[in-house]
Amino acid sequence: MKGTSVKWGLFLLAAIILASVVSSFTAAAEATKFGEYSADDFTYESRCRQCHAIIYGQWEGTMHFNAYLDPFYLEEVKVASIDTDGLVDEFCARCHTPIGVVSGEIPPIDGSGMSDISKLGVQCDFCHVISGSDGIGNAPFIITPGDIKWGPFEDSKSAYHDSEYLKLYTQAEYCGMCHEVIHPVNGLVIDDTYSTWKDSQYGKDNVVCQDCHMTEGITEYKANPGRSGSGAPKREHISLHAITGGNAFIPMIFGAEDVAKMATERLQNAATLEVRAPEVASAGEEVIIEVSITNSGAGHNIPTGVSEIRQIWLEMVVTDAEGHEIYSAGTLDTEGSIKSAKRIYNNVLGDSEGTATESFWLADRVLEDNRIGPEKTVEEKHTFILSEDVVYPLKVETSLNYRSASQELIDKLFEKGTYEVPVIQMNEASNTIYHPDASPKEGTEPTPGFSTFTATIALILRMYINRK
Ligand code: HEC
Ligand code: HEC
Ligand code: HEC
Ligand code: HEC
Ligand code: HEC
Repeated sequence: MKGTSVKWGLFLLAAIILASVVSSFTAAAEATKFGEYSADDFTYESRCRQCHAIIYGQWEGTMHFNAYLDPFYLEEVKVASIDTDGLVDEFCARCHTPIGVVSGEIPPIDGSGMSDISKLGVQCDFCHVISGSDGIGNAPFIITPGDIKWGPFEDSKSAYHDSEYLKLYTQAEYCGMCHEVIHPVNGLVIDDTYSTWKDSQYGKDNVVCQDCHMTEGITEYKANPGRSGSGAPKREHISLHAITGGNAFIPMIFGAEDVAKMATERLQNAATLEVRAPEVASAGEEVIIEVSITNSGAGHNIPTGVSEIRQIWLEMVVTDAEGHEIYSAGTLDTEGSIKSAKRIYNNVLGDSEGTATESFWLADRVLEDNRIGPEKTVEEKHTFILSEDVVYPLKVETSLNYRSASQELIDKLFEKGTYEVPVIQMNEASNTIYHPDASPKEGTEPTPGFSTFTATIALILRMYINRK
């Protein structure tokens, strides 16, 4: 522990020197200084709710609402603070309790100095007093708390507050202030959601975060006509504040089932699965099943964000007609650990010794990056030998799974048995393998992934064998 602190001290010194060199070359508007305001400068969301009740209902229970009270965050930040001797306290809190930081209530990291409003995470008034930005990543927001609420409308009028239009609200750069996390000491990019989006076709076509995350389109913009509050005019589009990603775990802990459902639906729109299994196979033969997974719906990697903690993997179970398991990969053991998956689709960070770590505050390098890029496809190959005593036909069940964290990590942070991390099925496929002599049942549809070429070859082969 001592060694870590010394190293951090040196790093920090270097970072301060670097930061002062960099800032002397940049002339952009400066980000808000932490501790510059007081919690009293912000308005409780209950006030906004009086007129914007629908928007309030959408935001309630989301990860922005939970950003500070999230028990997973609170446990991790405790560990991070101990590991770094408190050096990351203010850093971590910037995005998870922005009011807590700009009002100087954090540090201390234990939350003992916090007002109630700071605990509301990323809330209405904070998001709508953002009056500018000083760039991307690590929370460079510029805020002007007070009567003016900034937003996407050029002609908005309210009896309660002044309104000001700011283009930033309709741009990915707004989200990119917090959805890009750079290690404050060594510069390692820990969360690259904004930059991956920017480099993708979505970024080039300007399909912004808001199009997918603040409309019902999920994977594209979909207009949502309506009124944004009582007394407001009818507009062609009002954005949704049920901003969800893939996290159903934390919303369920808070009883926000609607949010968990939306997260599940989003995950089910993120990827397509194509499974190529032979239609027939003989005993003693090596069966090869190939799978393609395509990130078809997300404007960034899947997973993204704290992707070193998230897990996406393929589960495949092959059973014979009597239900005997012939092959399996990616199932869970009794402890909730993933057994023999071909690959976990996430990234693996390493500390200064090159040891893999999920504690991203200790990371200074990327050891492995297995995330699936936007519009990219990855392949997996599963093989097994058929034994003589199998009972045909065989069933191949394939499932693409997601969970917010490994059960092991959650069991390490909380008392075992406290939380079970839900496994969410993103997509699935089912294939049947027949005996070479048997012809598939009438009307059996080949699964979407089955290549007609393989099917034709199999058919010709079967006709040939049958004739002999
Ligand atoms: C994460 C930051 C964030 C939070 C939290 C947030 N908003 Fe917004 N809000 C936005 C953005 C961004 C837009 C513009 C979206 C667009 O036009 O694509 C917006 C738009 C609006 C609008 C204009 C109408 C509309 O829906 O487009 C109103 C009114 C509004 N928000 C009120 C609220 C209220 C009330 C809350 C709390 C219940 C809230 N916002 C919470 C970021 C936020
Ligand atoms: C007395 C009712 C009332 C209260 C309270 C209220 N608003 Fe509004 N707000 C409105 C109306 C009406 C509009 C106009 C909507 C339109 O033009 O479509 C509006 C517009 C907005 C806009 C859009 C501004 C723009 O130019 O795009 C934002 C953002 C917003 N409100 C945020 C908030 C926040 C945050 C709170 C709480 C701190 C809040 N409002 C409290 C009535 C209210
Ligand atoms: C002030 C910082 C801040 C801004 C601005 C912000 N976010 Fe977030 N967002 C967060 C934090 C912090 C979390 C995670 C909270 C947690 O996991 O405990 C989060 C969570 C999310 C999630 C849920 C992720 C999941 O795993 O389910 C989505 C989706 C999201 N944000 C999208 C957006 C979009 C889109 C915008 C822009 C309109 C935006 N955010 C603007 C800080 C911010
Ligand atoms: C083309 C639609 C699309 C665009 C554009 C898009 N997203 Fe997403 N996003 C998704 C889908 C679908 C998922 C669910 C897959 C997942 O969770 O990995 C998702 C998941 C997320 C998550 C949860 C990540 C995880 O794996 O736990 C966050 C955070 C997020 N998006 C933020 C953003 C931000 C910030 C932007 C803009 C820079 C953005 N998204 C742009 C569709 C989109
Ligand atoms: C620049 C903004 C920012 C900073 C700084 C930041 N985070 Fe986050 N954090 C986020 C966002 C955005 C997400 C959501 C990403 C996603 O859903 O994958 C998140 C998610 C998390 C999660 C996952 C929560 C869950 O329920 O799945 C943990 C844990 C976490 N952060 C801890 C920390 C710690 C510890 C630090 C400091 C070392 C830190 N964060 C610093 C923005 C930030």
